[in-house]
Amino acid sequence: MASKYKVSRGTFDVLPSGWDSRRYVEWVATSVCGRAGYRQISTPVFEDTKLFVRGVGKSTDIVQKEMFTFLDKGDRSLTLRPEGTAPICRAYLEHGMHKLAQPVKLFYVGPFFRHERPQAGRHRQFHQIGIECIGSESPLCDAEVIVLMAELIAALEIPGVELRLGSLGSLEARRSYLEDLKGYLRRNEGELPAGVRERIEINPLRAFDSSHEGTQAVMAGAPRLIDHLSGEDAEHFEAVQRLLEANGLPYTIDPTLVRGLDYYSRTIFSFVCDRLGAQSEIGGGGRYDGLIEQLGGPETPAIGWAIGIERIMLALELEMGEPELEVFVAAVAPRQRMEATLVVSQLRRAEFSADLDLGERSLKGQLKHADRLGARWVLLLEEDGSAQLRDMYTRRQEPIDSRRAVEVLTEAKG
Ligand code: HAM
Repeated sequence: MASKYKVSRGTFDVLPSGWDSRRYVEWVATSVCGRAGYRQISTPVFEDTKLFVRGVGKSTDIVQKEMFTFLDKGDRSLTLRPEGTAPICRAYLEHGMHKLAQPVKLFYVGPFFRHERPQAGRHRQFHQIGIECIGSESPLCDAEVIVLMAELIAALEIPGVELRLGSLGSLEARRSYLEDLKGYLRRNEGELPAGVRERIEINPLRAFDSSHEGTQAVMAGAPRLIDHLSGEDAEHFEAVQRLLEANGLPYTIDPTLVRGLDYYSRTIFSFVCDRLGAQSEIGGGGRYDGLIEQLGGPETPAIGWAIGIERIMLALELEMGEPELEVFVAAVAPRQRMEATLVVSQLRRAEFSADLDLGERSLKGQLKHADRLGARWVLLLEEDGSAQLRDMYTRRQEPIDSRRAVEVLTEAKG
């Protein structure tokens, strides 16, 4: 029966059949990140709008047109979080984590919201797994977080993934480079479409991202920050590369790599997957050495990443198969229904997945239901107190003492 209400555009329900693969992805991520010392944190799904305007940056697409912003009953402007890094930096400061031994290593999973045009792998409510390593500028952190995303991708066996690496230099180097780039774009304004021209002053780097042919031709000759990295920035980037090589992680340097958030400096990276179509990035991140200061805290270098759960599912074409039920307990006559509830509880306590008929079906109906649930065994409680165990694979049936069901089934499971 179709309801007159539909799920909102760009959002989706996760049905019980979809939860198995999600839980698996989250479990792998929690194990990989947990083993590396990242501890879980969660922050609210909405925050003061100013946190994102300051943190993510006024000139970004996110702040300009993608935020779900609303006024609460006290006329305060709140925003459904479009990303997790700014809220985590807020929490880091609010809970005095700068006083702990640095770096502080945090891990998160949850929903995020961006008002984007929906397409495969792009939703308005999506889910990220992310980590943040806050409080050290050592290239060891850069290498650790990048290697960790590679480990997660390998543990999930996602095929066709490549790592692209870039560096934006320090904040000062970036500022002076941006002036050079703006000058270059202004000199070539005649070749650029209005959309790119309008962004010269606010976000010139985005011109590298344009799909417009004329712009691409202009950008092929544009100055590239990576060629002008200053002493310490160049050394830092070199060190990151040597560490990745020592870890056996192949990468390609992408001099035009840009990311859609303003807070990045120095190392940025993107893992792209050839299974994803237009939205080819499965996950990415970078350093954000100026963000905590920007939010009113002390100078605090940091780096992190986020990976999209829906993109992982898309890349893996994860089957949304129903879980298999181990034991279905059927009551031959209504009198055995009570006993069936007791046997099911016993089996569940012994860590079997076990179920019974709650719809008061006939025996035939119960067996059909057991089949629908994909039951491995059916335990039939007979009217005279005896019981039969039916193997649903072989369809063989044998008498069993129902009081020994746990023991017999544990043995059968092997
Ligand atoms: P981001 O690049 O905006 O970075 O998003 C990270 C990942 O989230 C993307 O690679 C993609 O897998 C997924 N994603 C983003 N937008 C959507 C969408 N509309 N639909 C589905 N998936 C999406 C950040 O959010 C940064 N906070 C990452 C970071 C952490 N940088 C440093 N620390």
